[in-house]
Amino acid sequence: MARPPSVSIHIRVRAPGRRACAEDIVRTVAEDIASGRLSKGLRLPPVRELEHQLGISKNTVQAAYDELVARGLAEARARDGVYTASPGIAEKDPFPSLGAAPLAFTPPRLPPPARRVPGQIELSTVFIDPELLPVTQLTDCFRSVLSSPGLVPFYDAQGYPPLRAAIAERLRGRGMEVDADDVVLTTGSQQALDMVGRALSGGCVALEEPVYSYARLLFEDLGKEVVPLPLDPFGGPPLEVWAERIGKARPSLLYAITSYQNPTGYSYSTYEMVQLLEMSKHYGFALLEDDWGSDMLSCGEYRPTLRALGGKHVLYANSFTKKLLPALRVGYIVGSPETRDVLVAEKRLSTLANVAVTEAVVHEFLDRGYYDTHLKRVQAALDERYLGCLGALEELMPEGVRWSTPGGGPTLWLEVPRSIDLPSLRERLFRKGVTIEDSRNHFSGAPHLHGFRVSYAYLAPDRLRQALERLAEALSEEARRSIA
Ligand SMILES: Cc1ncc(COP(=O)(O)O)c(C=O)c1O
Repeated sequence: MARPPSVSIHIRVRAPGRRACAEDIVRTVAEDIASGRLSKGLRLPPVRELEHQLGISKNTVQAAYDELVARGLAEARARDGVYTASPGIAEKDPFPSLGAAPLAFTPPRLPPPARRVPGQIELSTVFIDPELLPVTQLTDCFRSVLSSPGLVPFYDAQGYPPLRAAIAERLRGRGMEVDADDVVLTTGSQQALDMVGRALSGGCVALEEPVYSYARLLFEDLGKEVVPLPLDPFGGPPLEVWAERIGKARPSLLYAITSYQNPTGYSYSTYEMVQLLEMSKHYGFALLEDDWGSDMLSCGEYRPTLRALGGKHVLYANSFTKKLLPALRVGYIVGSPETRDVLVAEKRLSTLANVAVTEAVVHEFLDRGYYDTHLKRVQAALDERYLGCLGALEELMPEGVRWSTPGGGPTLWLEVPRSIDLPSLRERLFRKGVTIEDSRNHFSGAPHLHGFRVSYAYLAPDRLRQALERLAEALSEEARRSIA
């Protein structure tokens, strides 16, 4: 039988500042038995434990325990330990069914997690096909970082300095005003949104609608009032409507995914970006640009960014999650000298700092020039998949179905006729082995769109084709059902 844990007792020393003596141990145990603090049958601390804790000799503790046994207050059990024992004290369960009060909590309001069934084709995911990710090169970088003599021993709350410097240099190369000191590394860009949300003094945030659902859910969970700004994947943002809503609600922040917006695939034109910057100045709201996609474009070009056009007050978030390896969880936010300290303070409060060893691996990857060659290779593959997807949609989709043509990023928006019941389509497709998301999660109110994301980045071309064939089938079946 396993030995019970020993009890923990504080030995009260008669002469404070002096080491305990055997008499102190005997007296403390005797008093605790007499007062009922110690019941019968409890294992006293092992001799070596008290010896170490009190800084006294083993013989002193042993002498105290012998004395307790001699007085009938304790009993030595062979190869077991010394237990409290006295005819006068009751034997009690040393740890009666104790139980702390359970945590009272308000759970965040999240949609149920997506159903994941092995073998299902996931048609709405935002991830890139793992086959396209540079796992071998990353493994090399991990090996190199882990075996280097100067393995990062400490962490910097702002993030691994060489990686911050490398990111700043890359962004400057894209026309952005960025110093290494303006960059704060984060656990994915999700942490960047969290840090900004916490730091924000105002209670109101404007978001595109539909929008990346975990941005909306996060801001709501942080107690922000969310002002939805309708976005049309086919026509763009109706800026007059935006200005009107902003003028009424006076948000302190506008969060915008400026390239290949999740979930619509929409990219802002330069004109629209300039308008947003003007509105920011006019209405006095800050801009948080989530640039998950501007480096996911072929032809070695980058899309414009608000940060490049609007300067250092545009908060700019990006991450390596989608493009390098989701499991790395390395992202960053770029602020200004004015915002840096508050962002670092928010990060310090939630994680102290992030995994510097992983940040060093990403730095190694950039430093070896792997990232640029990897992006080129991925973009070539994604271009092919994108064009294949457009071709298959044209060939297979029934009349009345429309889709956006983002030209980059991982997904496009597929809009289906209003007569199609989306939950029923989802269920029907699921039975055919294809999963699509519940797009209502992208909206805070009644959706003004009627469709869902289609990913061409995650699926190999033959799997994508298969999924679209089944989608076409399911759409026709649903259309027939709605007429019947
Ligand atoms: C638009 C957008 N921004 C931010 C994120 C957060 O990503 P991560 O924290 O992995 O960088 C996601 C995740 O899918 C996203 O779609």
